[in-house]
Amino acid sequence: MNELKNESLCAVAMSEGRNWLPFSANRLVNGRGDHRVVASAKGPYYTMADGRTVFDTLSGLWCTPLGHGHPRIVEALRQQAETLDFAPGFQMTHAPAVTLAARIAKMAPEGLEHVFFANSGSEAVDTALKIAIGFHKLRGDGGRFRLIGRERGYHGVGFGGMSVGGIVSNRKMFATVMMPGVDHLRHPYDHAHVAFSKGQPEWGACLADDLERLVALHDASTIAAVIVEPVQGSTGVLVPPVGYLQKLREICTKHGILLIFDEVITGFGRMGENFASQRFGVTPDMITFAKAVTNGIVPMGGVIVTSEIYKTFMNGPESAIEFAHGYTYSGHPLAAAVAHTVLDIMEEEGINGRVKALESVLEEEVHALRDLKSVKDLRNIGLTAAIELVPAPEKSALRSVQLFEYGLQKGVLLRVTGDIISFGPPFISTPEQIKEMIQKVRKVLLKCEEDF
Ligand SMILES: Cc1ncc(COP(=O)(O)O)c(C=O)c1O
Repeated sequence: MNELKNESLCAVAMSEGRNWLPFSANRLVNGRGDHRVVASAKGPYYTMADGRTVFDTLSGLWCTPLGHGHPRIVEALRQQAETLDFAPGFQMTHAPAVTLAARIAKMAPEGLEHVFFANSGSEAVDTALKIAIGFHKLRGDGGRFRLIGRERGYHGVGFGGMSVGGIVSNRKMFATVMMPGVDHLRHPYDHAHVAFSKGQPEWGACLADDLERLVALHDASTIAAVIVEPVQGSTGVLVPPVGYLQKLREICTKHGILLIFDEVITGFGRMGENFASQRFGVTPDMITFAKAVTNGIVPMGGVIVTSEIYKTFMNGPESAIEFAHGYTYSGHPLAAAVAHTVLDIMEEEGINGRVKALESVLEEEVHALRDLKSVKDLRNIGLTAAIELVPAPEKSALRSVQLFEYGLQKGVLLRVTGDIISFGPPFISTPEQIKEMIQKVRKVLLKCEEDF
C-alpha cells in the first residue's frame, strides 16, 4: 500500500467513524482531520500526519518512558519473533516469561515473590481482585467478599476495576451492573489544606482513618481487600500525604484485609524507584503493574503477590488447577522479551537516578506557573505533575478541547481531563526538554485565558 493510498484510506475511514475510538469524542476527532492522526514517533516526539512535531508530555499514556523507536527494543522484538513468537501459557511456559517473573519479583519490595501475567492494567486489576477473594475463600474465610476502592481512583475498565474505581463518568452508564459489595474510601486530596504542595503534602494522613469508618460500617470480617493507586494518576496526580499510605497499611494489617497497590502508572521508575511502594516505604500484599514494563511497545500487565498468597493457592491435589483464571496472551513471549530489554536499559542507564534528578527540574518548572490567573493548583511527585485550572463552569469540556488544540499548535501533546492537565514526560527527556515543555504550556494557558 503506497503512502498516498494509505492516507486517503485513512481519511475515508475517519470520516465514516469505522474506528470507534476509546475514551474519545469520536465525532470531534473524526471531524478534525490530519492533525489528530499520528504518523510516526522517535524518542520523546511524535510526528503528526500534517507534519507537525509534538513533545510527548505523558509518555504515551504513561507507558513509553524510554521514548519511541528505541533500537534495542526493536531488535529484541525482532529476535524474539524469530525464535518463539507464541506458545500457550496454560500447563506450560517458556524462558522469557519464567525469567521475567523472577526478575520482577527481585525488583519488587521484599516479600512480594510471585508474578501472574496479564496483558493490560485492567486485566491485572481484575486478576488481583479475584486473587483477593480466592485467598480468603481458600483460608475458610469466604465471608470476606467486599472490595474497597477509592473516590477518584482509576483501575481500568473491566467490571472489577470499574466497580472499585471512583470516576463517576466511567461508572454511571453501568450503575446497574457494578460488582456487589464494593465501597469507596474518600480521596486523599483536600485543596484547602494541600494546594501548591511540592511532593508529598504534609497534611492529610488522617484521611486514611476513613478506612476505619468503612470497617465499622461493614465489619472487617466481610472485607477482602483495599485497592488504591499510591499516586492517583488518571484523575490528575493526587499525591498521598505524608503518613497516609502507612496508615492504610496499619489498618489493613490490623483487620486482616489485603492491601493492593495499583502501580500500573507508578511501577518501573516513574517515582524514581522500581515501585512507588519503595518510594513511600509501604509494602502492600499485591502490586499490579503494566505500561512501562514493556515501554508500551507490546501490551503486558501482571500482579505480584506475597508468598503467603501464592502458597494459599498451592493446595489440594497436585494435578488440579489451583486458580481457574488466565489469558491466552499471559506472559506472551514478545512482551516478555521486550520487558527484559526495557529492564536492561533501565538498569544500565540508571533510570531511577535520572528520574530523581529530573523530578526537581519538573517541580521547579511546574510551580513557576503559579502566577497565571487560570491556575488553581500545581502538584508533583516523581516524574509526574499536574496543573489544575480554576473551573470554567459549563465550559470545561470545550476548554479542554481548546487546550489540546493549542497544545498541538505549540508543539506539546497534552493530556487534559476536565480542568486538569497531567504530565508524565519520558525518563529520557533532557532537563532542557522539560523546561521547553513547560514554557510551551505557559503559552497554551495564556492563550486559553483569552478565551475562557
Ligand atoms: C492505575 C491504573 N490502573 C489500571 C489502568 C488500566 O490499564 P489499561 O488501560 O492497560 O487496561 C490504568 C490506566 O491508565 C491505571 O492508570
